[in-house]
Amino acid sequence: MISYGEKIPNNVNLGDDRALQRALEQWQPNYLRWWSEMGPAGSQSFDVYLRTAISVHPQGWAHFGFVKMPEYRWGIFLNPGEPNRTIHFGDHRGDPVWQDVPGEHRANLRRIIVTQGDTEPASVEQQRHLGLTAPSQYDLRNLFQVNVEEGRHLWAMVYLLHKYFGRDGREEGEALLERRSGQQDNPRILQAFNEPTPDWLSFFMFTYFTDRDGKFQLCALAESSFDPLARTTRFMLTEEAHHMFVGESGVRRVIERTSQVMNELKTDDPARLRAAGVIDLPTIQRYLNFHCSVTLDLFGAEESSNAAIFYSTGLKGRFGETKRKDDHVLKSQTYGVLQSVDGQLVERPVPMLNALNEVLRDDFIRDSIAGVGRWNRVLERAGIGFRLQAPHKAFHRNIGALAGLTVSPDGRLVGQAEWKARVGEWLPTDSDRAFVASLMGRVVEPAKFASWIAPPVLGINQQPTHFQYVRFD
Ligand SMILES: [Fe+2]
Ligand SMILES: [Fe+2]
Repeated sequence: MISYGEKIPNNVNLGDDRALQRALEQWQPNYLRWWSEMGPAGSQSFDVYLRTAISVHPQGWAHFGFVKMPEYRWGIFLNPGEPNRTIHFGDHRGDPVWQDVPGEHRANLRRIIVTQGDTEPASVEQQRHLGLTAPSQYDLRNLFQVNVEEGRHLWAMVYLLHKYFGRDGREEGEALLERRSGQQDNPRILQAFNEPTPDWLSFFMFTYFTDRDGKFQLCALAESSFDPLARTTRFMLTEEAHHMFVGESGVRRVIERTSQVMNELKTDDPARLRAAGVIDLPTIQRYLNFHCSVTLDLFGAEESSNAAIFYSTGLKGRFGETKRKDDHVLKSQTYGVLQSVDGQLVERPVPMLNALNEVLRDDFIRDSIAGVGRWNRVLERAGIGFRLQAPHKAFHRNIGALAGLTVSPDGRLVGQAEWKARVGEWLPTDSDRAFVASLMGRVVEPAKFASWIAPPVLGINQQPTHFQYVRFD
């Protein structure tokens, strides 16, 4: 159990390390200042039915209760260490894992932790106005849950920086509170975290796709030879599952509601559906195309010598590394990456170690497509012929060998002229965004839902869907 008597709840014996505890206690007010400036707008005094991590036991790790968000107990929790854990991939395979940072890997590990840490507050910033237009109390509560847990993920990374990286780490901890999503002169590190999340359809797509990028990155770091990083990311994954649930079920409920109205009105005409207050399927597809492609860029360039170094030195494994049946060294394998040659997209084998970003991206794509299939079952059951699709990997990319190519969502290289003529069918247009924005009103009466979204099947923590999840002042 975690002691809640302490200023900073933790299961890492923080009280035994006075210097570290003092450093974190100095960071804490800065964090709270950041939260009050950049956290959920206009909702700091609400009592919200939130889950708080209180232990790392798979059963009963969380407690549910009403909390004001600024009083949320952000804490530091690591999964228990496995005794005698050894490094299971890369050049140090078979050696004991590291409980401290080896000097030669210090710069790379710091960079990995800072890059992961930066995404956490970034998404809170991106989502800070959404509470003003929640489609229901249930959804409002879920948004706040995601936000406070992203805050805790920042704590998790800052703990590692403070404990293992000394003064450099403390400076990075401050910088994590200073960068701002979308700000010109001091933006967040990764581009998808500088895009606005202006409406709830964007939020659901973001939590479906971009939080899933988080899952894959965390799974790769959960394999790390730096044991404290592996243990902290394992616990973060416990919380991450709910974020992706919010995305997947959110989009599914939008599709359900649209299908219902399509059947009632017997039409697939976007204009008539929009007039009836629901989001037409082609618009949902365009949002999907945007969020999927922007998220694919987060995995980085197809060929990367950094990815090779991170793997060989044992800093970052593959998704499901331990379950894979190969040599876990990867020096003699190749992997196919796409590039454009003479107007064609062709696959070219490259050394597998250099292609590990692409390997992770492909794992992510498989997982994402499975959920799109589940969304399509809603359409099937409703007797609607339209099917949503994940866009081709080369569509709308801005990083790596595919950057800047004009490729249709079904994977054809098209000329500039066709791209210009058809981009409005493929990516959300200004008028799509304006329409979706026009639907965003604030629905806060228990049991009520906005016109464009179906109620969930179940409430949170076995509460009814009409439960009062947020008590307003
Ligand atoms: Fe997170
Ligand atoms: Fe998340």
